[in-house]
Amino acid sequence: MPDTGASDAFVAFERVQKSYDGETLVVKDLNLSLPKGEFLTMLGPSGSGKTTCLMMLAGFETATHGEIKLDGVSINNIPPHKRGIGMVFQNYALFPHMTVAENLAFPLEVRKIGKSDREAKVKRALDMVEMGDFGSRRPAQLSGGQQQRIALARALVFEPELVLMDEPLGALDKQLREKMQFEITNLAHSLGITTVYVTHDQTEALTMSDRVAVFNDGRIQQLAPPDELYEAPSNSFVAQFIGENNTLEGTVTQLKGDHCTVQLENGAMIDAKPVNVTEVGQKTRVSIRPERVEVNPELGPDAHTLKAKVLEFVYMGDIFRTRLEVAGNREFVIKTRNRADQERLKPGQEVNIGWLPEDCRALDAD
Ligand SMILES: Nc1ncnc2c1ncn2[C@@H]1O[C@H](COP(=O)(O)OP(=O)(O)O)[C@@H](O)[C@H]1O
Ligand SMILES: [Mg+2]
Repeated sequence: MPDTGASDAFVAFERVQKSYDGETLVVKDLNLSLPKGEFLTMLGPSGSGKTTCLMMLAGFETATHGEIKLDGVSINNIPPHKRGIGMVFQNYALFPHMTVAENLAFPLEVRKIGKSDREAKVKRALDMVEMGDFGSRRPAQLSGGQQQRIALARALVFEPELVLMDEPLGALDKQLREKMQFEITNLAHSLGITTVYVTHDQTEALTMSDRVAVFNDGRIQQLAPPDELYEAPSNSFVAQFIGENNTLEGTVTQLKGDHCTVQLENGAMIDAKPVNVTEVGQKTRVSIRPERVEVNPELGPDAHTLKAKVLEFVYMGDIFRTRLEVAGNREFVIKTRNRADQERLKPGQEVNIGWLPEDCRALDAD
């Protein structure tokens, strides 16, 4: 059969839209494809349409428009249990009348896996989530976090080619969550499982994923590897949503190639890299990461300096976090590494701050 889509796509959303009420689109023209083995995270605020996308891929919701393909074949009309997808959803309940081990064995029985193989796989999956001693318990005898770990083990036990996870670690404490993040990505990569993972936690998305699709308002705002999202956000939403970010508002006064000049609201002029500004006179928000700012800098002749007033200094051990007033913005934050010779600033102190023009990105104004 001829393949009309991207040939290396294992999962593909093509022009997918979804409306629950026949009026509002909660997913708007989604185009997204994943090669086999990729770990892709859908990241975005609550209500941005992430779960809806996952439910459509799983088959529990139907797309209002467009097509979803698995291995080049449209699955729009294939019921969930025939898609061969492993799933861990926020409220994906375990079978209450079965023990933990029986819950895990179930997907293997359905797939006609022999008893000894089954037992080995169940044991391995339980060990993976550190629940090796809990095989004979029932779900009601487990905490919420433990149940979620079993749900995770059950999704992976039959080694599916595609696994969908919707905020699976939300109920776990920080230490276990970080351990599980590592285990999940390791396991997915070593087994060659393609994973679509949903979270609203940007740290989780950045640390686990090959690529991240940042969602807002039913649309993908940017689709990129974690470092690119952080270093080169393509709009103001992504810049604000991923990591800590400083914003200065102003107007473009000069624009030439990969260089523009922005006049800030207090009259100060700064140079920036134009990202999505296209003409002189346009309002813009320039974005600078806290760790790219230097105090009383020696950055060379191209660098800017701006006057700033220290509002707050916080000693955080490995870093110092200083809040400043810069061009009317009282939430301007800088982070400096704690070195023996690093000055500790004091509230009220006036300083110069600076950065390299390429670290300063002129984005859309809203
Ligand atoms: N079953 C449903 N019926 C009606 N509206 C829904 C349903 N599920 C989600 N929505 C709405 O669709 C939008 C996207 O929701 P969702 O996909 O759950 O977002 P996210 O997972 O990013 O928080 C929200 O406005 C939500 O209220
Ligand atoms: Mg959700």
